[in-house]
Amino acid sequence: MKILVTGGAGFIGSHVVDALVARKHRVTVLDNLSTGKRTNLNPQAGFIKMDVASPLVGSATKRLKPEIIFHFAAQKDPRLSVLDPVADAKTNVIGLLRLVKAGLECRIRKFILASTGGAIYGGANKIPTPETYPAHPLSPYGVSKLASEHYLHSYRHAGGFPSVSLRLANVYGPRQNPKSEAGAIAIWLGRMARGQRPVIFGDGRQTRDFVYIDDVVRAFLSAMSKPATGVINVGTSKETDLNTLCGKVARAFGSTQRPVYAPSKIGEEHRSAVAIRLAREELGWKPTTVLDDGLRRTVRWFHEQHKIKR
Ligand SMILES: NC(=O)c1ccc[n+]([C@@H]2O[C@H](COP(=O)([O-])OP(=O)(O)OC[C@H]3O[C@@H](n4cnc5c(N)ncnc54)[C@H](O)[C@@H]3O)[C@@H](O)[C@H]2O)c1
Repeated sequence: MKILVTGGAGFIGSHVVDALVARKHRVTVLDNLSTGKRTNLNPQAGFIKMDVASPLVGSATKRLKPEIIFHFAAQKDPRLSVLDPVADAKTNVIGLLRLVKAGLECRIRKFILASTGGAIYGGANKIPTPETYPAHPLSPYGVSKLASEHYLHSYRHAGGFPSVSLRLANVYGPRQNPKSEAGAIAIWLGRMARGQRPVIFGDGRQTRDFVYIDDVVRAFLSAMSKPATGVINVGTSKETDLNTLCGKVARAFGSTQRPVYAPSKIGEEHRSAVAIRLAREELGWKPTTVLDDGLRRTVRWFHEQHKIKR
């Protein structure tokens, strides 16, 4: 099938592109390389360097005539979204709408959005949180993802195209950018490699649900091939607090550095983990990588990339 993948030069998008290419799909990546890297681009995929909010997205998409659109391109930092909600909405809301309009004109078969399970439930008191829990995001980033889901829902019901929004927990694994503002594991590995202590914002007792990239890729492939529509959580349902996680990352890396603590970030949830019954039922999906194994694989990749002598 002909598939357009926005954000396909980034962490999650590039892994999905690799999996699609391996299955002989004809893939084109649209990415402005703001946080993504050329080295992540699959050489067998086409590439359009473009901002997803550009008015040219419509004509570029129509030239390709994709049957499926995977949408990963986003402003993904909750803290930045608080500082500049207009820039966040431009990328995350206007960008989504440009693609939706192009998707309608191309009569795509399905639109698959990378949404968020962490930022959308906004301090939920039911953990792990099911999709039915009222979404009240704490950050403009969470709001823009929720708005995206609602736009897709409205077009689905107005006779547009089928769509599914995967509400991802905290994804980790090879290619996550240690220079970005989000993704604690990659950032800590980057600091440890420079001989710096990892930084924990807050007291480290906040919890997150860490899901390994290979499991996430399988969820996206199922979202494409199964008839499922609507919102579906993708995570492990397990909470890990950042103090425990930091200890595990340090052990896997072989570092004895203890973390330093900094003031907590605004717009962040205290606890987060997603319920995954719907993913089992609708996608036939469940995570198979336990955290210690995923961390070992991530650290192995990191050492290979950075050629660190151990
Ligand atoms: N990583 C996670 O834990 C996580 C959790 C929940 C949701 N998500 C969502 O998954 C998606 C991918 O996240 P990621 O971790 O791979 O991030 P990433 O930064 O590695 O990838 C994002 C990609 O989108 C591109 N991009 C950003 N803004 C763009 C724009 N305006 N126009 C065109 N391209 C643009 C970047 O260059 C990059 O290649 C995002 O939508 C994010 O909100 C990620």
